[in-house]
Amino acid sequence: MIPESVLNQIQERVDIVETVSAYVPLKRAGRSFKANCPFHHEKSPSFIVNPDKQIFHCFGCGVGGNVFSFLMKIERKDFREVVEELADRVGVELPKDPKRPVESDAERDLVRANTAAAEYYHRVLMSDPVSEKARAYLDRRGVRKEVLEAFRIGYAPEAWDAFYKHARQAGLAEPLLEKAGLLVKGKNGGWYDRFRARVIFPILDGKGRVVALGGRVLDDSVPKYLNSPETEIYHKGRQLYGLYQARPAIREADAVAVVEGYMDLIACHEAGVKYAVATLGTALTPDQVRLLKRNTHNAYILYDADKAGEAATLRGLELFLEEGMDVRIVRLPEGHDPDSYVRKNGAEGFRAEIAKARSLFEYKLGLLKTSHDPSTLDGKVRIAQEMVGLFAKAKSEILKAAWVKELSQELKLSEQALLTELGRSTAARTARTAEKSAAADGPAEARSAEPAKGLPRQAERLLLSLLLEDDRYVAESRRELRLTDFYHPVARRLVQILWEADERGARQEARGLVTKLQDDPECVKLLTLTTAESETIIDRDRSFTDCVKRLKALRLDGEHRSLRQELAEAQKLGDQNRVNRILYDMNELNKRMKEIHEKKDKR
Ligand code: UTP
Ligand code: MN
Repeated sequence: MIPESVLNQIQERVDIVETVSAYVPLKRAGRSFKANCPFHHEKSPSFIVNPDKQIFHCFGCGVGGNVFSFLMKIERKDFREVVEELADRVGVELPKDPKRPVESDAERDLVRANTAAAEYYHRVLMSDPVSEKARAYLDRRGVRKEVLEAFRIGYAPEAWDAFYKHARQAGLAEPLLEKAGLLVKGKNGGWYDRFRARVIFPILDGKGRVVALGGRVLDDSVPKYLNSPETEIYHKGRQLYGLYQARPAIREADAVAVVEGYMDLIACHEAGVKYAVATLGTALTPDQVRLLKRNTHNAYILYDADKAGEAATLRGLELFLEEGMDVRIVRLPEGHDPDSYVRKNGAEGFRAEIAKARSLFEYKLGLLKTSHDPSTLDGKVRIAQEMVGLFAKAKSEILKAAWVKELSQELKLSEQALLTELGRSTAARTARTAEKSAAADGPAEARSAEPAKGLPRQAERLLLSLLLEDDRYVAESRRELRLTDFYHPVARRLVQILWEADERGARQEARGLVTKLQDDPECVKLLTLTTAESETIIDRDRSFTDCVKRLKALRLDGEHRSLRQELAEAQKLGDQNRVNRILYDMNELNKRMKEIHEKKDKR
C-alpha cells in the first residue's frame, strides 16, 4: 500500500490534461476539455477531462477515473507500475513496500536449486540423445520447438542420479535439494533423483523465478504427474502456471482463460490463445482470483466437461463474482479437455468455443434445470432460491437487477417475488459478514436490501456532485439527511465515505476517492459521472437546498405510505388504540411535510 499522502503529492505534480493530451488531442469546452474517447469507438466527442477535479469521464462508454486509472487503462499496466513511473517522473520518492519483504537466503537458495534443475532438464530435452523418446512424445502431442523454449520444458532422464551428478558439480547441497523436492534420500543413506523419466514443466512465479517443477510420465504409469512439494517459495494455491508468460497477452486481450492442466495450457498457446493460465488440477483459490484480477476483470473458464458439472467447480467460479469479475464458462464437448479439443478441431474451432462461452447465470441455471424440474412450482422455487443465492454474491447492483429480470422471464415468476427473496439472501449474507467483522458499521437500515436500478434518481446524483464539489455541502447534508435517504446503493456508499471523512475532519477529494475505490468500478463510474455533470449546475446553493428538500420529502412519503398500510391493518383488526396512535403520527407527519413545502414557497 502506498500512503494516500504520497499519492496526493504525485497528483499535485502531474496534470491530467497534459497526461491525456499525450494520447488524444483535447479541445477546450467550458471549464473542461473534450475528446473522442480513446477507450471506445466514437465519432463525436463524449470524453471529458476536468482540470479542477483532475478527473476524466466518458459519457459514451462510462469509463472514468483519475490520472492513475487513465494510465493503467491506456498503457495496460497495474496500479503499482503506473504510480512508480509517475513518481519517478515527477521526483517523488516512494516508500519501500513493506508487504514485499526482501528475499531471504533460504528463498534465494531454493530458487537457485530449482533454476539449476529446470535449466539442466531443458538442456537435456533439447540436445541430449537420451531424450529421443520424450521429444517424440511431445512431437506426437503437437508441441513445437518454440513452445518448448518459451516454457523451458525439459526432460528428466531415466537414470537414478543424472541430475544429482550435475547438481554436485554445481555445488548445490543435498539437504537443499531434498527440501526443494529434487532429491530423495534412499534407505541406505544415498541420494537419488526424484524426477525420473518425466517431461518437466517449470513453474514460474510473478517475477519469472523458477519456484517448482511438474513432471509427466511418457506412458500410462502412475502417478501421471509428479509435482514439487510446497516450500517457502512455492504455494500451490497462490500461484498459477503460465501466468508469468501470459501476463502481456492477458493485458492486451483484457481477458484470461483458466484451464486445469499443463498440457491444456500449452495447447492454448499452440492455438494462439496466449492469455491462458492453469490451476494444475486443484480448485481455484481466492488468492489466485485476486492475482488474475490485477490484470483483467474478464475470465473464461475451460474445464473438462465432467469437472465443469461439479459443485466444487461452481463454488470456484462464484469466487470471481465475489471479486467483482466477469466470469464466463466454456463447456467443451463431453470427453474433451482443451488440449484434446485443440488437437481434434484446430485453433479455429477452439476459439469458436471460447466465443460461445456462457455467463455464470446461464451456466448455473443450466445445471439447476437438470436437477430440478422447472415446469413444476416446487422446481421453480428451488431453482429461484439457488439462483438468488448466486445473485447475492454479485458486487454489481446493475448486474443483480439484470439477472433478476432475466430469471423472472425464464421461470415466469414476478420480479418482485425474486427481489424479496434476494433481499432475504442478501440480509443473511450481510449478517454473516457482519458477524465476521464484528464491528457493525453504519446504521442497520442502511444495509437492508433494495431493488437495484441503473442510475440514482436526479436529486441524488445532483446532490452527490455538489458534495464532491464543496465541503460545506458535505457537512450540511450530514446534519440534514440520513444515509437511508439515499436510495441508490452506489450513491449511498459514496455519500457514506464523504460523511465519514467529514466526521474525521478530513477533506476527501474526488481524485483520491477514485484510487480508494479502484476495486469498485461502479462507484468510480458514478463518481466521475457526477463530477463531469456538476459543471452544468448554475446556482449551487439553490440546487443544494432543493435536493435536500426533495430527499426529505421522499423520505416522508415513504413513512406516510407505511403508516397508511399500518392504519388499514389496525382498522381491520378493530384496534382502536392503535388506530388513534397512527392517526396522531400521520398528523405529525403531515405537519412536517407542509413545513418542507412552505419553506420551498418562501424562496
Ligand atoms: P488431468 O488428469 O486432467 O491431466 O489433470 P491432463 O492435464 O489432461 O494431462 P494429460 O493431457 O494427460 O497430459 C489435470 C492436472 O492435474 C494435475 C496436473 O497439474 C494436471 O495437468 N495432476 C493430475 C497432478 O498433479 N497429478 C496427477 O497425477 C494428475
Ligand atoms: Mn489432457
